Amino acid sequence: PAQAPRPADLTGLRVLVTAGGTREPIDPVRYLGNRSSGRQGVAVAAAAADRGAKVVLLAANIDDSVLAEVQDRPGVRTVPVGTTAELESAARAAASGAEAVIMAAAVADYRVADVAEHKLRKEDSPGAAPTLELVENPDILVGLVRERRPGQVIVGFAAETVESDEELLERGRRKLARKGVDLLAVNAVGWNEGFERGENIVQVLDADGRVAVAAEGTKREVADALLDAVRDEFRALNH
Ligand code: CTP
Ligand code: CA
Repeated sequence: PAQAPRPADLTGLRVLVTAGGTREPIDPVRYLGNRSSGRQGVAVAAAAADRGAKVVLLAANIDDSVLAEVQDRPGVRTVPVGTTAELESAARAAASGAEAVIMAAAVADYRVADVAEHKLRKEDSPGAAPTLELVENPDILVGLVRERRPGQVIVGFAAETVESDEELLERGRRKLARKGVDLLAVNAVGWNEGFERGENIVQVLDADGRVAVAAEGTKREVADALLDAVRDEFRALNH
């Protein structure tokens, strides 16, 4: 369906968007990953470009069918990444030239301590299931906040499994404070909620923990509502 036309209210803004989910190798043929499709982040990239921004999209393991939305869109440069380490170095490099950073990617919290050089084979350890030792990945978002350029707006995303809206907001507020971001977009996820669907329900918390924006609709509609909050925050920081 056609989108309601938006003003080019992000003209002159350089926006970094991360999307998708990072993957951590176990051996040459296996990985630890998550269910993020990248759709919400890609929709943010597309919407920002349509509103005049110059967008760098760091796409972590996003299917081509999802990336098609930004493939030939003027104003979006897409850079594919795989692991958390790749996302981290690409994000640090791109963030230094961005007025706004939107971290929609689902980042693997842990990676495998010793990646096997060769495929793990059952023949090599008959009847014995392997134990994977994991190590914690760096928090990319916290690092970007630490290295923040003056006036830069930094947005995090949190997908939470919760029993109630109160719990969602409560967890969101704690996470927002822990990360030090300007805005945190929170949504509820579950076995059949939030993933691999066109629709989304998102609330955007500001640094005071207030709900700045509540949006429900297509991922594009949610993206535009989030970008309204980013625009307002940018103006407030740079007036
Ligand atoms: N994030 C990040 N680097 C990580 C983990 C998360 O940059 N190593 C970012 C995500 O991109 C997202 C935000 O932090 O924007 C929140 O991610 P989330 O997984 O909800 O936060 P965690 O601190 O990992 O907490 P949890 O234990 O709930 O997973
Ligand atoms: Ca996490």
